[in-house]
Parts: sequence; structure tokens; C-alpha cells
Amino acid sequence: MKREIAVFLGEDPVRIGTLSYAQDGNRESCAFAYDDAWLASTDAFELSPSLPLRAGWRHHSKGKGGSVFFDCIADTEPNGWGKKVILRDGARQRQDGNADRQPLNSLDFLLSVDDFSRLGALRFRDEQGEFVRISTPSGSPPMIELKHLVASSRAVEMGKETERDLAFLRGRGTSLEGMRPKASIVDDSGNLYLAKFPSAEDTRNVVAGEIMALQLASDAKIRVPDFRLVDSGGVPVALIRRFDREAGKRVMYVSAATLLQADSEGEHTYTEIVDTLRQRSAFAKDDMAELWRRMAFNILIKNVDDHLHNHGFLHYGHGRWALAPAFDLNPFPDKAHVLKTWISEETGESGSIRDAYETARHFGLDKTQAAAILGEVVKAASGWQRVAASLGMKRNEIQEFEPAFEHAQMKEAIRIVEGALLCAPKASAKTDAPATAEFLQESSGLRSDKQLALLASTKPPEHK
Ligand SMILES: Nc1ncnc2c1ncn2[C@@H]1O[C@H](COP(=O)(O)OP(=O)(O)O)[C@@H](O)[C@H]1O
Ligand SMILES: [Mg+2]
Repeated sequence: MKREIAVFLGEDPVRIGTLSYAQDGNRESCAFAYDDAWLASTDAFELSPSLPLRAGWRHHSKGKGGSVFFDCIADTEPNGWGKKVILRDGARQRQDGNADRQPLNSLDFLLSVDDFSRLGALRFRDEQGEFVRISTPSGSPPMIELKHLVASSRAVEMGKETERDLAFLRGRGTSLEGMRPKASIVDDSGNLYLAKFPSAEDTRNVVAGEIMALQLASDAKIRVPDFRLVDSGGVPVALIRRFDREAGKRVMYVSAATLLQADSEGEHTYTEIVDTLRQRSAFAKDDMAELWRRMAFNILIKNVDDHLHNHGFLHYGHGRWALAPAFDLNPFPDKAHVLKTWISEETGESGSIRDAYETARHFGLDKTQAAAILGEVVKAASGWQRVAASLGMKRNEIQEFEPAFEHAQMKEAIRIVEGALLCAPKASAKTDAPATAEFLQESSGLRSDKQLALLASTKPPEHK
């Protein structure tokens, strides 16, 4: 079996190429060719390093544990939660005799994602000339249907879904990858949001925890999408504005795994992301500093699920990319304090803020700059209880998160910033620039009584 799917880009779709898919028994493969017109266009850019801007077909077949599709296309493929919804829907339709279908293949999954809410700017048009799939005329449901989405998602998780639940989630609960229950939704102005729901397996208020982390990240001057926590019939829902939609346009997105050409088996590092930023970012210097800030933040809030699909890039123009706003930030109070993405090859597996600090120069930051950024991150992360309370979290819910925020790395971070403060040169009479020490102190805000008390309660680090 072979199919050819036309590939387009953007809200006003521009044809850029053709995706060919072949299935022979259990074997699946795909090929992609850019259109000549696109190759000749001044707007042309390579979708991924695996698809350089050249004429002719490039072939891809499924690697171990990987996708049948090229990485940039696979970034828009459902997995985890979305795949679960599609699988259940397919099985139900077959059971009911509504489907003449064989078991779903990889192309069926890829095309089961709603065109309206598909991640990034890639769009697929089938042999009938339809952008697949459009579940409803408006694409994603309005906020008012949130309660229904939550209930249907929960039913799927519990294995108790009805045909109506599946029909309701079709295309809407499947547009983004990731494990957690989620759906696409639009607000009254037509802006697209990602809605994340509690999972039946949660042992704490994960949804509020994610919103807390987004607020703390924003306080730490990390770029984040707009977000809010809403109550949907007693169920907390995180609403996060889609950053791949900008003024009604679609913005091309790829995961960091794609831009780094990272194989899914091996370990990867923040310094590898830096190398990619140096080569491909439209704002390399700023993005490198932003990445260091995020890495420090991840350590201090124990967001240890920072794998390369939880970092991404938006296409800025002419083959230049920019770090997408931060997403999927979660404090993990119950996990080991080790980042999923290593800091560097030298540090290996690590969750040490000292390692991060010692590596700052690779991110284009000197020690003073890194300490100043760290001061801002410490200050923001220290506000976790206040932020949690402002979100309406109950005392016991807040306490569950304590180990993610009150730990040795936080104390060490404070020591680093305080150390930098003590070492910083005094202002020179000749310069108008604020003294480094003052700058550090101001930006870190570390002189608060609480911080000093915390510092006083900690022992100096042991020298090895
Ligand atoms: N605000 C956003 N705008 C656009 N795409 C997003 C946004 N947040 C997440 N994504 C995309 O959706 C995927 C799933 O979201 P994520 O929050 O990582 O879910 P999960 O917790 O299930 O891993 C991400 O890998 C990313 O590709
Ligand atoms: Mg994720």
C-alpha cells in the first residue's frame, strides 16, 4: 500500500512538498521531496537538518523506537495521550462495524490530528484534496465545552468511555504529543490554547503545580506563554496559550531533539543545545543566556523531566530559529534530583547548581552574569509558597511540593550568589556603571531577611 500526501506550510497554505508513505505487511517507510517551486522560493528553508533544501526524494524508515516519519513531521505526530485516544476510537469503530479498517498504521495516526490545531505550521492534504482532519467547522471547541472535554478525557483514562466521549475528543484531544491528558480549545477571540487536565494517576495537584511553575518561571524572567488555572466543575485545568499561533498565523515548530538531530536512545546535554543555538538561532547570545536561566530554574524547582521534547524552537525566518517559550515545567518533589538533559558531557548526569554555574561560560556568561541570573531565579523560586497560595492551593497540597523547592541545591544557589556578591569588585569612581556588587544585589534581591536566615542555617560546601 502506498499513499502520497501533499505537504503545505502556514495558515495561507503554501505547497512545499510531498510525503510518500508505503506499507508492506509490518514494514512501513516514508519519503519526502520538496516541490521545485518551493525550492526556488525566497521563503524556502529546511524543515529539519534531516531534510536539507535539495531536489529529489529522501527516504526514511523506522529506527529503533523511533517514528516512521522524518523528525520534523514526527514532532506533529500523536503519541502518548493523543495516540491512546485515537487507538480507542479506532478500536471502538471497528467493534461497532463502522470501520472497514485494518488496524491503524502510522499514517492514519499522523492524519488523525486535527489540521486546525496541529502543532507548528505543517499541514497535510490527502488524495481527496482535504486538509486532514477537520473535526468541526471551527476546529477546536470553545471554552464552554471544557467540562465536557475533562469528563470525556477522564472516561478514556479510566477505560469507561462511551462512543460520544470518543466522538467528542476526536481531533480535539489528539493534536499534541506528550503523556498527560490534554485537549485543544479556543477562547472567545479565537485564540488557541492547550488545556491540560489532571490524570487519574496523579498523587498530587499536578495541574496547579504546572501553573505555579509557569508563574515562577515568569517571575524568574523566563519567556513563557500566557497561562491560567481555571476551575472546571471542581476540576483544575491549566490553560496555556499556543505559542505556535501568532496573530492568526501558524509558526513552524520543531522539538530540540529534531534541531539537534538527537537520537532518542543516547544522552544529550544543554551544551549541545548551545552548539545548535550558535549555529541556527536568530538570537544566539540571548537564547544561550535564556537557556542557562532555564537550566538553573529547572534545577531549583526540580523540573527533572527536561528532555529534548520539552525544549523546542520556532522558525524565525530564512532558516533561523529561536528558542520557543518554556513549557511543560513541573516541580517533581518525589523524583531524584538529576536533570534528564545533562548539563554537559563533563558533568554527566547531574542536578547540581554548582555544576551549572561552573559551566556558564559555555553559555556565553561570565561568573558575575551567571550569578546575577541565578539570583533572579533564586528569588523567584523562593516565592513558591506565596504563588501556590495565590492559586488557591490548599495547605496540604502546597506541602506536597516542598521537597521540590526546599533542598540542598537551593541552599547552594544562595551560597553561589552570596559568594559572587562578596567577590564582586567595588564601583570604580571613573565609571557611571553601577558597581557589580550593587547590580548583583539589586538583581538578586538576596538580602531579604528570609534569605539571610536560610543562608545562616546552611553549612559551607565541603571541599572534595
Ligand atoms: N504553549 C504551547 N504552544 C504550542 N505547543 C506547545 C505548547 N506547550 C506544549 N506544546 C507542545 O505540546 C507538546 C505536549 O505538551 P506538554 O506540556 O509537553 O505535555 P506533556 O505534559 O503531556 O508532556 C509539547 O511537547 C510541545 O510540542
Ligand atoms: Mg512534555
